[in-house]
Amino acid sequence: MPGAMTPRLIDHPLAQDALTTLRRAGTPREAFRAALHRIALLLAAGATERLHLAAAPVVTPLEGVDAPVLAGPLPCLVPVLRAGLGLLDGFLALMPAAPVAHFGAYRDHATLATVEYSFAAPTDLALRAAIVLDPMLATGNTAAAACTRLKAAGARDLAVACVLAAPEGLARLAAAHPDVTVTAIAVDRGLDERGYIRPGLGDAGDRLFGTG
Ligand code: URA
Repeated sequence: MPGAMTPRLIDHPLAQDALTTLRRAGTPREAFRAALHRIALLLAAGATERLHLAAAPVVTPLEGVDAPVLAGPLPCLVPVLRAGLGLLDGFLALMPAAPVAHFGAYRDHATLATVEYSFAAPTDLALRAAIVLDPMLATGNTAAAACTRLKAAGARDLAVACVLAAPEGLARLAAAHPDVTVTAIAVDRGLDERGYIRPGLGDAGDRLFGTG
């Protein structure tokens, strides 16, 4: 697809196995949540792989040594409400002190357009990276809208972490925000006429929260 970005794919066997649990229609809610949490841990590790390190002097019980520490502040995590909340705890498990912004948007099922209803973010977005947590990068409209909103609020270093991406969503995001990197567990075949990723896993928010 022209203009599509190449996402960083997490092909770790545990991530791929957990994704199959998410895909299976009969997976109960509890198991769905647990599998999404495991995926979030691996996604968080992949999405933060390139954080910069600096050397800091530490004294072990035996001697002094220069040891690596994060060079900058932790990224701001930005779950897209509501399905992005299913990834948040896993990311916070690796970065317990990370600030959290919220981007609330839903998809108008008739037009597939993104309707924004809420945004709250820390004031220091210019000083740190931000990672948008959106399990399903489908049309890409919501992730692109989140990035636009975050840039308007000062963010300069943006990434998107998702479970599944559609080629259409990758192309849309790349067209709107060529500077934004994507980390995903898998890229699926494409979107159906209702904007669902195929083969996909259904509606991530509905399966997480029992609605729909
Ligand atoms: N959002 C979902 O939850 N699932 C899809 O397949 C597409 C968008």
